[in-house]
Amino acid sequence: MKIDIPSEQAMQEFGLKLSKLLTGGVTLELIGDVGAGKTTLTRSIARGLGITDPIHSPTFTISNRYETQSELQVAHYDFYRLSDAGIMKDELAEVLEDERTITIIEWGDIVEEILPDSRITIRIRSDSEHSRQLDCIAHNQLTQKILEQLL
Ligand SMILES: Nc1ncnc2c1ncn2[C@@H]1O[C@H](COP(=O)(O)OP(=O)(O)OP(=O)(O)O)[C@@H](O)[C@H]1O
Ligand SMILES: [Mg+2]
Repeated sequence: MKIDIPSEQAMQEFGLKLSKLLTGGVTLELIGDVGAGKTTLTRSIARGLGITDPIHSPTFTISNRYETQSELQVAHYDFYRLSDAGIMKDELAEVLEDERTITIIEWGDIVEEILPDSRITIRIRSDSEHSRQLDCIAHNQLTQKILEQLL
C-alpha cells in the first residue's frame, strides 16, 4: 500500500492514525535513509499511544522502552551502529514475543530473520525536504487488516 505524505504534519497525522490501530504483539519495521523520518514517525505513534516521555533515537542504547497509558508498552530499537546484533538479538526475540509490546525497529536488516509475521514494513522515501512516500507491507492477516483500516 502506497501513501503520499506531503508534509511533516501529514506524517504526524499518519502516525497518530496508525497508533490507534496497533495492538500488542505488532512490530513496525521502518526502512529509509538517514533523515527519512523513521524516528519522527515513531514519535507520533508514541504520542498517539499516550506516551508523554520524549522519544530519543536509541542510538547508543540500541533499545528504549516506554509505558503507555494502557497496559501496552512500546519498545523502540535502532540498530544503525551495529554490524552484528549479538545478545541484543536475544533480547529483541523475547520482546517480540510479548503480547503487550508494540515493537518499532529502525535499521533492522541485521535482525530481519527473527522479525515476526505480525509485522508491517514501512519504507519511507524522500524526494524533497518535506514530502515522503510510504510503502507499507503487511506480513499476516492481522496486520493486513490494520493497513486496510488506514485507507
Ligand atoms: N514529511 C516528513 N516526515 C518526516 N520527517 C520530516 C518530514 N518533513 C521533514 N522532516 C524532517 O526530516 C527529519 C527526519 O529525521 P528522523 O530523525 O525522523 O529520520 P530517521 O529516518 O529516523 O533517521 P536516522 O536513520 O538517522 O535515524 C526531521 O528533521 C524532520 O523534521
Ligand atoms: Mg532515527
